[in-house]
Amino acid sequence: MKNKKPWGGRFSGATSALVEQFTESISFDRALAPYDIRASIAHCRMLGRQGIIALRDARRIERALREIGREIEAGALALDPRCEDIHMCIEARLIEKIGPAGGKLHTARSRNDQVATDVSLFLRDAVLNTLGLLGELDRAIVGLAGENMDTVLPGFTHMQHAQPVLLAHHLLAYHEMFARDCERLESCYVRVNRLPLGAGALAGTPYPVDRRYVARQLGYPAVTANSMDTVSDRDHLIEFSSAAALIMMHLSRLSEELIIWSTPEFNFVAIADAFCTGSSIMPQKKNPDVPEIVRGKTGRVYGNLMALLTLMKALPLAYNRDLQEDKERLFDTVTTVQACLRVFAPMLGSLRFNRDAMRAAAAGGFLTATDLADYLVARQGMPFRSAHEVVGRIVAHCEKAGTNLFDLDRRALQKFSSAFGADATACLSVEASVASRRCEGGTAPARVRAAVRAALKQIARRRQTVGRELKKINASING
Ligand code: ARG
Repeated sequence: MKNKKPWGGRFSGATSALVEQFTESISFDRALAPYDIRASIAHCRMLGRQGIIALRDARRIERALREIGREIEAGALALDPRCEDIHMCIEARLIEKIGPAGGKLHTARSRNDQVATDVSLFLRDAVLNTLGLLGELDRAIVGLAGENMDTVLPGFTHMQHAQPVLLAHHLLAYHEMFARDCERLESCYVRVNRLPLGAGALAGTPYPVDRRYVARQLGYPAVTANSMDTVSDRDHLIEFSSAAALIMMHLSRLSEELIIWSTPEFNFVAIADAFCTGSSIMPQKKNPDVPEIVRGKTGRVYGNLMALLTLMKALPLAYNRDLQEDKERLFDTVTTVQACLRVFAPMLGSLRFNRDAMRAAAAGGFLTATDLADYLVARQGMPFRSAHEVVGRIVAHCEKAGTNLFDLDRRALQKFSSAFGADATACLSVEASVASRRCEGGTAPARVRAAVRAALKQIARRRQTVGRELKKINASING
């Protein structure tokens, strides 16, 4: 490819090699090639259909664009960094292939609406694929919950034993987080799903373009409204990055619990060998590297979000070259969050919960102290504050004596309050405690069973919606 700049007309001096190197984006925006080809095909069809260029030219351009797409896919096209970016590389190759008619493709568009369109197409795929992966992860979590309906463990607050809960209930807390993550991606999808092309450099275009036709070609249900906003808007990238940051935050919390739970001190769970690595010096080690790396990668996704927010801060309308800096942050976020989701779901499938260790832990630590206080409230009408005080004294006594609440019989309890009846000790079992929490959102088995069913239905519905959207997109033009 010759090194003549498409914008060279007003220049008499050549670009410094240093500046070429500094301003190029081809080293990373090559990832947009398939989207650039697709958008260009839709654009040139529209140009032909509207009589803006000859139909014959439009057909030749489309054919050549498809060939270029295949060349790039096969790695057969050297992308010259002097071409600056993927848009100019493809255009240069087009002109090389079909001559000056190739130069008609850039009628009625600018690289500013072109790059916005490429990124939008890229992000639309990324959102759907992330939703798909998140769905798989969610299914793995809910699957584990379904298998652990009878397992009781201590629920923690402040990392101290709090109240007994079902393991399924604990796991379903993560389902809720992932379900909210899905909602956020779905909402972001609505705003990604508007066609930018047609905004031109910033003011629109004088040609009789048909933006809605291009939108239909590319499977967009709508076009963007204001040309100046369109070429400078990066909200949807930030929305995605923010949704991704929350996904990572949730994954990091689950990672942290798996790391803690797999210590010998807890021994609540074992991660399969396939998902762990060893130490080069300590032969006994089996390290939870996957959750550790996921926890670590959370930082770079947060960093990418901050970079994008800062990139956009105080940027005047409309397009500014600063915007070129958005792509690497976005690409890195997509790659990172998808890699984490991809490895996390099968790792969850490999977990072995140590139900006995959980049960044993739930038996100590006065987990049912609240239940004993609730007994005094429910059966004897004692104000909760007073009941709390009575049971607090019982716990202090047990702690001093080295005994547990379970060791107390009615007579022992009555030393602290005459309100304890014959049925008082029944509320001390962890099963009774769990079963009593029947309110909406509580850990009672019936509630948790219903929650598993609802979650499975929700996951299946989402899967269908994502599948339908992907089909719609695939049915539209593909380069
Ligand atoms: N590489 C550029 C970017 O990523 C493409 C748009 C360039 N537009 C321009 N007028 N120089 O933003």
